Amino acid sequence: MTKYEIQHKDLMGRIGKLRTAHGYIETPTILPVINPNLVTIEAAEMKKYGAEMLITNAYIIYRKPDLREEALAKGVHSLLGTEIPIMTDSGSYQLYEYRDVEVSNREILEFQQRIGSDVCVPLDIPTPPYVKHKRAKEDLEVTLSRLREARSLMPANGQDNMLAGVVQGSTFTDLRADSARQAAELEFDLYAIGGVVPLLESHGFARLVDLIVASKQNLPLNAPVHLFGAGHPMLFSLAVALGCDLFDSAAYAIFAKDKRYLTSDGTKKLEKLRVLPCSCPVCSTYSVAELKANTDLLAAHNLWVTFEEMRMVKQSIAEGCLWELCERRCRAYPSLVDALKRMTNHSAVIERYDVATKRPFFYLSEYSAHRPEVLRYANLLDRFQLSGSVLITTKEEREEEVYDHIYLVKPPFGPYPVELKESYPVGQSEIPVDIDDVAKTVALQNVLKLLELNSEKAEFVFQYDGSWDGHPLLEKIGKYAEVRRNVSAQELVVS
Ligand code: GUN
Ligand code: ZN
Repeated sequence: MTKYEIQHKDLMGRIGKLRTAHGYIETPTILPVINPNLVTIEAAEMKKYGAEMLITNAYIIYRKPDLREEALAKGVHSLLGTEIPIMTDSGSYQLYEYRDVEVSNREILEFQQRIGSDVCVPLDIPTPPYVKHKRAKEDLEVTLSRLREARSLMPANGQDNMLAGVVQGSTFTDLRADSARQAAELEFDLYAIGGVVPLLESHGFARLVDLIVASKQNLPLNAPVHLFGAGHPMLFSLAVALGCDLFDSAAYAIFAKDKRYLTSDGTKKLEKLRVLPCSCPVCSTYSVAELKANTDLLAAHNLWVTFEEMRMVKQSIAEGCLWELCERRCRAYPSLVDALKRMTNHSAVIERYDVATKRPFFYLSEYSAHRPEVLRYANLLDRFQLSGSVLITTKEEREEEVYDHIYLVKPPFGPYPVELKESYPVGQSEIPVDIDDVAKTVALQNVLKLLELNSEKAEFVFQYDGSWDGHPLLEKIGKYAEVRRNVSAQELVVS
């Protein structure tokens, strides 16, 4: 009777099936936000875009008498006019934005249950980024007491309504970790990382990476994780790679209202578009002028590209190339480059979750040099216990000399036995011919590691070609190996 079943994994990302009272959904997925006061695209239309679940705000329904009565009488699905699963938010965000929420945690939770929400959310406190630690900790205590109250009102496995455990803690990784750990102890059906909207708005993506990792490491793996407020498609690959499974998007409507056109590479101002670069049903039917005149058409395009990107993320998980997708997406925008770099800082964590073998990787930029697969390879170098004479060489052609072992060097991995030339991961990963210095550095660090591990029993010759000339690690390698520069045929002719 597990509620969440994982089918494919890549990095910390997964494709999973979640059981709700209104049927199964497949993650990762994005829940379009339906504001019952201000409908841009009808809930009943959402399925055609690819939506499997929606999210609406229980507090907005609760405080408006006609909506409240209808929801209580017929349920939230009837109110929105759809039978697909619906998650309801609690009004926490209104609390944060307007400070005028007049409902208790207990009241709003009971209301969510009574209107038949598939996923209920307690009234957490979204603490903004960069407040004082003391304030964030105090807010978190309140959130945690509300989570405990929620769990006692809605015992586990007792009902159809699932319950989300919200993670807060502002920009403090220690508080995020603590928040996640304590929520996990209460055993929620799913978890939701909150309080990140201001970070998203200010493009603090590197900090977001730290917060997701701190939270995720302390949450159970057999439950989905929602990232509140992350509706821009350019962020999906990164957030999914770090273990987020569910997203909500008001972005499709908010950006449309602002006359902004979403793409998986960022946002474009509609007024600057000469053509519509996308081929969704809207963009292949209407002109730029028609989109300018009709915000609903723009919102529809925004939603199409949002689901298109999520499908791309899913396909990348299935193929084992989610890192490549992250690397491509994050190179589109400077603050995402920061986030990608920050993700490489967490490669050791990601490596622990990543699958053992997958498709060989493509080296796309210097950030590929710090991929979890490369780190894993470095960690396994102590498998090679060497004695006798060993040649380590950057070139496959070599002299006739006889060695007990021959190792080739392939950036960014480093040394590998010639016998494993065709094996995963080193032998199969594809790198550019003109490889960058970062990959060379990582490779030489791993050469050094192999030398250090075996310096007592083996005698090394390290042979390199001119493309490695001047690398600062060559000197260090010289402490453990006889270093020979391989003179190419061309160089011989010239001299
Ligand atoms: N929507 C956006 N951010 C948040 C948050 O931190 N908590 C809740 N409940 N909803 C949100
Ligand atoms: Zn389009």
